[in-house]
Amino acid sequence: IESALGDGPLKGRRVLVTSGPTHEPIDPVRYIANRSSGAQGSALGHALAALGADVTFVTGPAEVPPPAGVDVVRVETAREMLAATEAALPVDAAIFAAAVADWHVAGSEQKIKKTGTTPVLEFSENPDILARVAQRDRDRPRLVVGFAAETENVLAHAEAKRTRKGCDWIVANDVSPATGIMGGTENAVTLITETGAEEWPRAGKADVARRLAERIADALGPA
Ligand code: CTP
Ligand code: CA
Repeated sequence: IESALGDGPLKGRRVLVTSGPTHEPIDPVRYIANRSSGAQGSALGHALAALGADVTFVTGPAEVPPPAGVDVVRVETAREMLAATEAALPVDAAIFAAAVADWHVAGSEQKIKKTGTTPVLEFSENPDILARVAQRDRDRPRLVVGFAAETENVLAHAEAKRTRKGCDWIVANDVSPATGIMGGTENAVTLITETGAEEWPRAGKADVARRLAERIADALGPA
């Protein structure tokens, strides 16, 4: 039985979660995005709130609705997600479950029409929200957790990301098509911390979320 909202080991703790994809407009009717249902992020927001945390849930346009009992901030683009994330600080812990688009394009005010010549899009890199927060001098959350969805060399890529971005933990998972994880209800992750890698058994996204929320509560200790 879940503890009532507002009670539990994360009572008094402020936690930020980013979730879902971002949409980067090409013109008023088209966009660039990563695949992300938002299911793992929503499950995580729910699990953290169930342990009593004060959750700010910054979400792009996801298929899965945000959980109840959290403060929802809806954004569309990566640049908006960065602004909303920074506005939510300070927090005790920040978990970056969003599948942020890596690039945006200049974007056309008007719908781009077929003219006989194919349009060429020029990409600019989006800010790395996780890295920005993890590398802050002021108001760096005590625990910064990233996700790394990879299709090959999962653990090596994930550990390299942890170091490069400066986060404390990385939740690594293999999203290659054969796993069926993308868009599914289950997840199989390896939690990489300062002290090593722990492979968790494949489980429902709600179970993975609960386990991660409990680890976060343990790491923060009593408020
Ligand atoms: N992330 C972020 N802002 C970005 C890109 C990624 O906050 N602009 C976060 C994601 O939410 C995730 C982690 O960084 O927690 C890793 O995202 P990922 O896309 O795997 O990392 P990238 O650095 O973008 O590397 P890649 O080239 O593999 O996409
Ligand atoms: Ca990326």
